[in-house]
Amino acid sequence: MSSEPLVLGIETSCDETGVGIVRGSTLLADAVATSVDEQARFGGVVPEVASRAHLEAMRSTVERALSDAKVSLSDLDAIAVTAGPGLVGALLVGTATAQALSLATSKPLYGVNHLAAHVAVDRLEHGPLPQPAIALLVSGGHSSLLRVDDVTSDVTALGATIDDAAGEAFDKVGRLLGLPFPGGPHIDRWATEGNPAAIDFPRGLTSQRDLDRHRYDFSFSGLKTAVARWVELRQREGEPIAMPDVAASFQEAVVDVLSRKAVDACRQQGIEHMVLGGGVAANSRLRTVLEERCGHAGIAFRVPRPALCTDNGAMVAALGSALVESGQPASKLGIAVDSSLSVEQVTVT
Ligand code: KG4
Ligand code: ZN
Repeated sequence: MSSEPLVLGIETSCDETGVGIVRGSTLLADAVATSVDEQARFGGVVPEVASRAHLEAMRSTVERALSDAKVSLSDLDAIAVTAGPGLVGALLVGTATAQALSLATSKPLYGVNHLAAHVAVDRLEHGPLPQPAIALLVSGGHSSLLRVDDVTSDVTALGATIDDAAGEAFDKVGRLLGLPFPGGPHIDRWATEGNPAAIDFPRGLTSQRDLDRHRYDFSFSGLKTAVARWVELRQREGEPIAMPDVAASFQEAVVDVLSRKAVDACRQQGIEHMVLGGGVAANSRLRTVLEERCGHAGIAFRVPRPALCTDNGAMVAALGSALVESGQPASKLGIAVDSSLSVEQVTVT
């Protein structure tokens, strides 16, 4: 095998059917089909709808990725697939496909962690990850601060959300503002017109007392309630809701806490590199504020382009190729999915 392994990655943990192909840290194809329009009718992801949509989209998405990358299955060096965390039925569609491909082609199979893949994807944009690095991982289901000594084998959780994930907070606030699901991108857009200092929304777990126990943890449910109260009060008084200001002020509260704690983790751990990942990493304000705050603190900051931040197959292939390059053992063919796979477990064996 050449030093640049050709890896196909399959992602089906939520509502995106993603199939990506990479050679080493070069992206060759990133085919994504999404059931988000179907999910939007229900205001959230319905697991059964997601599983069925994965089944329907899988074959054509694999074919599209192979054709975009101009490779055939027999050219591959390995197949990687998200084994968790995520929705069980949705994960099963991905792992069953990967198992079948692995069996048919006799290529090794790597069952990988979706969250580690959100961090590893940056190698496709900026080359191999600097190690150690602090990773801020913010998605619809998770918000974590990680110390990454080796993305293929050594990830330590420093803190996580104690209630809602950052993306979940965006989506819930989006819903109460009457925006379509998922609310994150809509709030991002509305906020560009608003004043982030218009409303002083609370910053969860930042008081000195909270910091003593929860230095690297997050809490967004109090913020969500504060936005709901603020909106209700205006509605009761018959006052108009200044959507851009509410969106910008809510977003600022989330971004302020995430970026403050991530920079603090770098300082306290003596680490000079930060990587941002997960769907919320597509947020324009979070990218700008982290870039600025890291710049002031002398921290080198990396974040992939927005399309690689939200769920896709390329991130799974990117982690897969890193695993092959570093000589990590492949998984057995009969890998089990794990809906609550720990963020510290990079692969399932
Ligand atoms: O990583 P991801 O695609 O799926 C999960 O693994 O959860 O993240 C989806 C989340 C959703 O909550 C969505 O609202 C949020 O990422 N998101 C954003 C933006 N784009 C996606 N949140 C804020 N601003 C954005 N531009
Ligand atoms: Zn994700």
